[in-house]
Order: sequence, then C-alpha cells, then structure tokens
Amino acid sequence: MKYPLSTFGNRLALQSGIGELMQDLGQALASGDENLCMLGGGQPAHIPQVDQIWAQRLSEIAADPQQVNRVLGDYQPPGGDAAFRDAVASLFRREFGWPISGENVCITAGGQTAFFLLLNALAGQFDDGTTKKILLPIVPEYIGYADQSTSCELFRGVRPLIERIGDHEFKYSIDFDSLRIDDQIAAICLSRPTNPSSNVIGDEELQRLAELADQHGIPLIVDNAYGDPFPGVIFTDTSPIWNPSMVLTYSLSKLGLPGTRTGIVIADQAVIETISSMNAITSLANNNVGQAIIQPLIESDEILTVSRELIRPFYQQRAAEVQTWLSDVLDDSVPYRIHRSEGAFFIWLWVEGLPITSAELYDRLKRRGVLVISGHYFFFGIDDPSWDHRNECLRISFTAPESVLRKGFAILAEEINQLFATN
Ligand SMILES: Cc1ncc(COP(=O)(O)O)c(C=O)c1O
Repeated sequence: MKYPLSTFGNRLALQSGIGELMQDLGQALASGDENLCMLGGGQPAHIPQVDQIWAQRLSEIAADPQQVNRVLGDYQPPGGDAAFRDAVASLFRREFGWPISGENVCITAGGQTAFFLLLNALAGQFDDGTTKKILLPIVPEYIGYADQSTSCELFRGVRPLIERIGDHEFKYSIDFDSLRIDDQIAAICLSRPTNPSSNVIGDEELQRLAELADQHGIPLIVDNAYGDPFPGVIFTDTSPIWNPSMVLTYSLSKLGLPGTRTGIVIADQAVIETISSMNAITSLANNNVGQAIIQPLIESDEILTVSRELIRPFYQQRAAEVQTWLSDVLDDSVPYRIHRSEGAFFIWLWVEGLPITSAELYDRLKRRGVLVISGHYFFFGIDDPSWDHRNECLRISFTAPESVLRKGFAILAEEINQLFATN
C-alpha cells in the first residue's frame, strides 16, 4: 500500500545520490560477490592492527558486567554521556588549547545525522516565511549533504579555482572573489579534507573563512570526518581551528567504527543545546557503544597515536600507490587528471572532454561489476549547466584490497581508454 506522503516525507523518501551509494555499498558488502569491485562508498579499510584494538575494547567491556549493564541497558542523556563529553573536551584542550568544556560537546548518531540536524536547524524555511541557505565555499562537496533539506533548496555553492599541475594532476582552491555572503546566507560549510576531492583547505584560507563568518554573524561549520586529530587522514601540514562561532563535527566512522553510528559536535553551548534538544525529540538518546569503546583511548591520548601511527600512514601510502596503479593502466593520450591527494579515502578523477557523462560512465562500469560514484552528485547548489567539469569526474574509493582495486582500475581504464582511442 502506497500512502500519500507529507512534504517532509516526499523530500526524504526520494532517490538520492547518497541513497544510491549506500545501496550499492550495502549490497556489495552483503553479497560477498568476489567479482564485484566496490570502489564507491566511504567504507573505511579494515586495518588489522586497528580492528584488533576495537575487538579488544569490546572484550574488555563484555568482561565487566557493570559496563555491560551501562552500555547495553541504560539510556544516556540526549547530548551524550557526560563523562565522555568531558573527556572529548579535555582532549581538545590538551592538544590545541581550546577553551572548551563538556558543555561544548554533543553526540549524534553519526556525522550524517549531525548534519541533518545542523543544516535544517540553521537554514531552510523560517517562521516569518523567509528562507535561508548554507554557503558551500567550494564545490564539489560531500554528496551526503545534498538531499538533507526538510523544507526548501538549502545550498548556494561556489565554483572553485582550478590549478592544472603537470600533465595529470590538478587542485581546487576557494575563489574568495566569488563568495557572496548576503542576508540569505545562514552558515558557511565545508568538509576538510573534502569528500570527494581529497582537497584540504589551508589554515590561512580557513582562518579567512572564519573571519568572514564572524563579520557576518554566522557560523562556519567544518566537517572533520577524515580530519585531525582523529582519524587524522590528512596529509598536509595543517591544524584544526576553533572559535565560538565555529561548529566542528567529528565522527568515529573513519576510525573503523561506522557500525557504532557516533558523531561528535563541538560548538558554542547554545548550538550544543539545540542539537541535544533535537536528539531528544528525534531519537531520545544516542548509541552508547562507540563512546564506551573509545573513551579510554581519548582519556589516555592513545586515540592520537592510533590515528597518527596506524591510520594516517596506511591511507597515505595507499593514496600514493593507487595513483600509480591507475596511471599505469590509463593511456597517456587520455586527458585525465587526478586531484592532488591531501587526505580522505578517494581518488577524484577528472577526464576533461569526456565524450559521455560521468553518470553514463558509472552505468557502464556498474554493468561490468565496478562500482564508483559519478561526480555529478557532488556539484549541488550550483546552477550552471554549461560547466562541463560537473559531468567529467568520478570518485573512486581506495579502501578495498589491492587485488580488487587493480581489477577495478583495469576495467575502468578499458572503458575510458576506448572513449579516446583513435583508429
Ligand atoms: C565528509 C563526510 N562527512 C560526514 C560523513 C558521515 O559519516 P558518519 O555518519 O558515518 O559519521 C561522511 C561519510 O562518509 C563523510 O564523508
């Protein structure tokens, strides 16, 4: 039986890029089909030494009946466990000297939910009939924000400056001259490192954005799903910045704990209270498991060593290898460029003058058992159909085992090479 849906229902029950991505990802993982090359989702790699730490922590919790009762049997307050929030605040105070306490920290059901709550609380339809938007200072930006609005179009995106480097590399940067912050803008938002491009906005650019946000009395939201200090999948010499008009989000997912659905928001107390109230109404409380697993590592700073000594080197080495593996199979005559690898788990491939759209290329690859993400999904908030770049990029995740990556790259290269073959 199909029931008529409300505006809210219609907005969220649609076919979305993130829906397609998670469907592909979930099915590929559940099927166990060895012929499928899953190069699509943001699934973290299984790094054996890291997985072992989580397994060890679970055994420690399971061995202590008091902890089992607390973790599995008790509801937490809607903002998260008070001791955990204090532990997170202390870590950031110790590490970066930020003047924050547990009251500046709130837990959500993953970073995705943090954004659903934050974006809809700050922008969209207001009681007086006006509407407000989130400014994305650099697009392409994370696909997961795109369809989160419960009211009206949420985003105003800005095209990046593109620097072509050598024959096969490129890098985006913020076009500050094109940033227009007017009364309609409720907040500025970016991911750092950026999913999909792996770009990392430098400290100076971030500081400049923070000052712009301050001047206009709006928050700057920085999504650190891959960032410092955890999971630390960031290869540039940059640092996190916080001031009271910034909202930072973190997540346990890319540490290898996506199943715990744990997000962390650091912000001014008023923002934290808003998110906590929304948590209470939408979900009562958060999942306790992720907080319980990670709390001792946060208190001892072990989370920093795990991130810096195990997680970052794994992805940094992989990022360098996959660029070579992909370049080895793409014909030199193909006008391809790979975004400079500065963090996260992805190759952002741009094929300038691609004769078919990236969405068609995605379909062709899917038919051959290779799952990637068509780049067009990441160019939301921009109304410029003449910008070909939007349809010329693919996001390729490199967390799968080497054999899967090499097999997927071979098929990908066959499809792309033949589009440029002259016979
Ligand atoms: C940039 C970015 N932000 C947020 C998320 C949300 O992740 P989670 O809800 O698992 O914390 C992701 C997931 O891939 C992401 O890539």
